[in-house]
Amino acid sequence: MSELPTVSLRACTADDLDVLFSIAADLDTWEERNPSAPAPLTRERFDARLAAATDGNTSQDTVNFVVDVDGSAVGSVELFGHDSFARHAEVGISLVPEARGRGLGTAAIIQLVEFGFSRCNLRRIHLQAIASNTGAIRAYEKAGFVIEGRQRQHAWVRGAYEDIVLMGILRSETFVH
Ligand SMILES: CC(C)(COP(=O)(O)OP(=O)(O)OC[C@H]1O[C@@H](n2cnc3c(N)ncnc32)[C@H](O)[C@@H]1OP(=O)(O)O)[C@@H](O)C(=O)NCCC(=O)NCCS
Repeated sequence: MSELPTVSLRACTADDLDVLFSIAADLDTWEERNPSAPAPLTRERFDARLAAATDGNTSQDTVNFVVDVDGSAVGSVELFGHDSFARHAEVGISLVPEARGRGLGTAAIIQLVEFGFSRCNLRRIHLQAIASNTGAIRAYEKAGFVIEGRQRQHAWVRGAYEDIVLMGILRSETFVH
């Protein structure tokens, strides 16, 4: 693998909110595998969602990081849906369009996977991607995920049904023991 750029994962600050809102409100990268309907997102709704998360009204086990490059937020990455018995969780990531295709996503995923295994004591991390999202699937593969299955025509994506690709990585497949 060619050398990856430097990114850091850190907590969100008030200065990051404009960038995170721009990602959340970007319908072009709307995640159709999400069961809620695509709809424009107002800043008020985004702020209310954030306040609810901060107040602890959403799942306590979601771990959210801002992806930082040279002091600026370029996206966010998260672990959610923790299963404390089977010790697995799902990963999600989104970068601003200008930051994509430069290895930053792969670098951030690798760091989150390490955090999940070595800090959260997970033994498996998984995700779902739309089959046509070849960039995301490739970035996850570069971070060590393998394709585990496929849900045929499971998503309605901008005018066509698409398969959902299921991917996962086991702790035993990494250097974390
Ligand atoms: C998915 C995402 C996080 C990937 O991060 P990224 O920084 O763009 O990806 P990287 O540059 O690290 O790696 C992408 C890899 O896929 C390849 N790739 C990118 N677009 C591709 C395409 N359309 N077809 C084939 N390969 C593609 C790149 O060439 C690179 O592989 P390489 O290093 O072997 O050349 C980012 O693109 C993003 O935020 N997309 C929008 C949100 C999203 O789709 N999230 C994931 C939902 S599952």
